[in-house]
Formats: sequence, C-alpha cells, structure tokens
Amino acid sequence: MSHPLRRLHMMRIEVFLDEAAAAVALRNEVVRGLTSSPKALSPTWLYDERGCELYDDITRLNEYYPFRAERSILAAHAKDVISASEPNVLVELGSGTSEKTRFLLDAMPMPATYVPFDVAESTLRDAAEALMNEYPGLDVHGIVGDFGHDIVHIPREGRRLIALLGSTIGNFTPDERAQMLRTVRETMNPGDAFLLGTDLQKDRGRLVAAYDDSLGVTAAFNLNVLVRLNRDLGANFDVERFRHRAVYDEAHNWIEMQLVSLFDQRVRVDGLDLEVGFTEGEVLRTEISAKFTPSAVNHELAAADMRVTDRWTDDAGDFLLTIAEVA
Ligand code: SAH
Ligand code: AVI
Repeated sequence: MSHPLRRLHMMRIEVFLDEAAAAVALRNEVVRGLTSSPKALSPTWLYDERGCELYDDITRLNEYYPFRAERSILAAHAKDVISASEPNVLVELGSGTSEKTRFLLDAMPMPATYVPFDVAESTLRDAAEALMNEYPGLDVHGIVGDFGHDIVHIPREGRRLIALLGSTIGNFTPDERAQMLRTVRETMNPGDAFLLGTDLQKDRGRLVAAYDDSLGVTAAFNLNVLVRLNRDLGANFDVERFRHRAVYDEAHNWIEMQLVSLFDQRVRVDGLDLEVGFTEGEVLRTEISAKFTPSAVNHELAAADMRVTDRWTDDAGDFLLTIAEVA
C-alpha cells in the first residue's frame, strides 16, 4: 500500500476544439484560401497526425538547424531561464512532442505543473503521458485548442513561465504575430515570464536548404496538406500534380513554403461544393516562417507591453531565446 501522505500526481486533458467547429473553420478557411489570389492556407492545417510525424522527422534532418540550435540553447541555459523566472507552472504554446521541454522541466523544482497547449490532440496526449511517467511530482494539465480562440482557457494560477518555442511565432503574419503576442501578454499576471524562441536571419542558402531538404521530408510534410484536404473535405487533389518549393522572400524576411501546380488543372472539393482552377506554375502558399533580428524581437515584445530581461543564442548565432516579463 502506498504511504498515505505520498503525493499523487495528476493528468488532465481538456479539449476545447469541438470537431464540428473545427470542421467549419477548415471549410471557411479553405474556401477563402483557394479562391483568393494568391492562393494560401493557414500552416495550422499541416499538423494532422501524419503532419506531426513528418514535422518530428524534419527536426532530425541535418539541414533543419533551428531545432538543434534551440535545443543547444536550452541545454546550456535552462537553469538560467528557470532561476530568472522561478516558475511552478510551465505553460507551452504549440507544445507538439514536448521534446525540448524536458530541459526546462529538468531545471524546475518539483512539484510543478506542466500545461501543454496544442491543436494536435493525439500528439499532445502522447507527450503528456510520457512526461507524467518521466517526472514524478509533475501534474500535467493539457489543453487541446487553437491559438486563435483558446488561449483564454489556459489556467492562470501559479507563477507561470509561458513558452512559445521552435520559432512557431514565425509562422504568423506580422499582424497575426502582434495579435498573438498581445493575447499572451493579456493572459500574463505580474511575476509571470514569457520565453520566446525565434529563428534568426542568415544566409539564404542555408535557409532554403532547411525548408527543402535533400531527403524530401519537408516536401512530404507540405504535400500532406493536400492529402488532408482530400480526406477531410472530399477534395480530389492529385499530389503528383503539385511540387513543393521553398522560397526566401527578402522583402519580408520570411521563408515561404509553397505547392506549385505542375499543370493547368481543376480540383473538385466535394465537401465545399467548390471547383478551383490552377494554372501551370500557380502557387498555393501553405506556410510562412519569418526570420528575425534580436532587436526586432525586442521591439515586437515591447509593442505587446513586454520587457526583455535576458536572451541567449547558440554558439553559431543561428537561433535566439528571449525571456520577457510584463512591462
Ligand atoms: N514547440 C515544438 C513544436 C513546433 S511545431 C517545437 O519547438 O519543436 C508547431 C506546433 O504548433 C505543432 O505541434 C502544431 O500542432 C501546433 N499548432 C499549429 N497551429 C496551431 C494552432 N492554430 N493552435 C494551436 N497549436 C497549433
Ligand atoms: C514549427 N515551425 C516553426 C516550423 C518552421 O520552421 O517554420 C515548421 C516547419 N516548416 C517546415 N519545416 C518546419
């Protein structure tokens, strides 16, 4: 029998994404995205179960330096991050497999609470369960939701470190980014801290290679969105008739992931009662991934009423981790 005073840790997963609402969002957005010019989809649609697996494969590619670079910063500075913020709750936005999170949890005094937040339910559940088993003394309170409307459901108790890693902030347009940072700021109590990972501007060749790898994993990740539209919306995209392309847009300082139509073609989307035409060479934008400078990160945080208290890069200066507090 266990000792009566032994503390039992808990796991709770709350799901705020009801399937019907998610389906409506997908439908509305796909109609808008496929009928606009240029055609574009939100990168969120990349993360179905297969997409999450492919992103995980990307993080292990030689060319994809951001994951390794951020991991090396966390390996070196997780203790500094934790001693600067002294949290007993770690909230992680877009937590995915929570792989790098372990550096922060290793440095956190237990008992503590981990609040992973992600739109990808099965990836979040797997990660939550693995962490529960690895960290005695860790309560896990997962939230399955969308950045757009569910951040308000994140519990506000405790002294919280809110992390947004992986340069996920770069997947938003500048306006969406400003909105996201303001939303994060609005949920912060005095004493909470925000930890932001951002990929830095660098040589175009390395950037493009990171998003167009030689094994074709990023291509598969990108093309998988068409498989998802076929499955979820009864579309008839022929994946063979599109190709993956990564372009660095120097005017905006972002990588664009695109699907380029190889032919003049028409695609039916039965679930939307929609038919769309693609001309040969026409582009469907599936993701942007902005590349930052340290001073731009400071400015964007300041515009959201946050003040940078410390920041670190990896040895090569490829990636930046910034910690900020309520200004
Ligand atoms: N933080 C991890 C994973 C980054 S991948 C890392 O650093 O490697 C981006 C994550 O954000 C994915 O797990 C994806 O499912 C999640 N995501 C994408 N769009 C989202 C949205 N609109 N709301 C919530 N999570 C989202
Ligand atoms: C999660 N996100 C920040 C990744 C990125 O680098 O923009 C997603 C990704 N797209 C292609 N490769 C990785």
